Amino acid sequence: MIKPGPIGVFDSGYGGLTVLKEFIQTLPQYDYLYLGDNARAPYGTRSFETVYEYTLQCVKHLFEQGCSLVVLACNTASSKALRTIQQNDLPDLEAHLRVLGVIRPTTEVVGKYTKTKKVGVFATKGTVVSKSYVVEINKFYPDVEVFQEACPMWVPLVENNEHLNPGADYFVEKHINQLLQQQPDIDTFLLGCTHYPLLVDKIRKYTPEHITILTQGKIVANSLVEYLNRHPELEKNCSKSGTQSYLTTDDTANFNDHAGTFLGETIMSKHVSLISN
Ligand code: DGL
Repeated sequence: MIKPGPIGVFDSGYGGLTVLKEFIQTLPQYDYLYLGDNARAPYGTRSFETVYEYTLQCVKHLFEQGCSLVVLACNTASSKALRTIQQNDLPDLEAHLRVLGVIRPTTEVVGKYTKTKKVGVFATKGTVVSKSYVVEINKFYPDVEVFQEACPMWVPLVENNEHLNPGADYFVEKHINQLLQQQPDIDTFLLGCTHYPLLVDKIRKYTPEHITILTQGKIVANSLVEYLNRHPELEKNCSKSGTQSYLTTDDTANFNDHAGTFLGETIMSKHVSLISN
């Protein structure tokens, strides 16, 4: 008999909150346990092995806390660690445990938004180098061309709470211009990093009006609805008291402050130490 537990939501830092927010809005009945690995963010510039190792530690911790289902609300972890965890690690764990990512649900729908068949993806260096978006979009929409731009400063701006300040404008404008220089006919920008919606106002400010800006939160939430409908045997392992709890590997006061501002409510996070020996 499996005791129902919260849905685990994991990110390297604050970015996954943009996904969690949509989960709460779309599926308010479930309990959620968020884990931000803020102490080791950003993941975007780290090696495959490191992202995999950190992500696996976090996923296992969420399982230990009673989650049966964990969503990697992080593109970097989804592109670098998800498949290995699903294929190599889950088979050694209890049979009911599941891990989902954010790239597949996004690539399933992105082609519906472009008329020019040219999509621009902003993402971390790790996600760009993995080519996950190029490969996956091509599977669903072979006629869509994908152009990528790595934005190594965007996550640190968010993690350091500088994303709303004027200094952020320089980096936002620079990467938008660089992506449009690659291909001026792009009509859809995909924010392929869960931190980037926190910069969306500035991204809109420097993006030509005719370009659609796609964020992932709602897309991933809709996909979770479908997943839970398709898998009643897993859905029954998710507890339903409508609560949210937060874990961070870094300072809780900082986390409570930043996350609370973003979510518009008081957050009381707990510290968790996952540093390996
Ligand atoms: N939110 C993560 C993502 O979606 C950011 C990765 C990072 O820590 O660099 O890729």
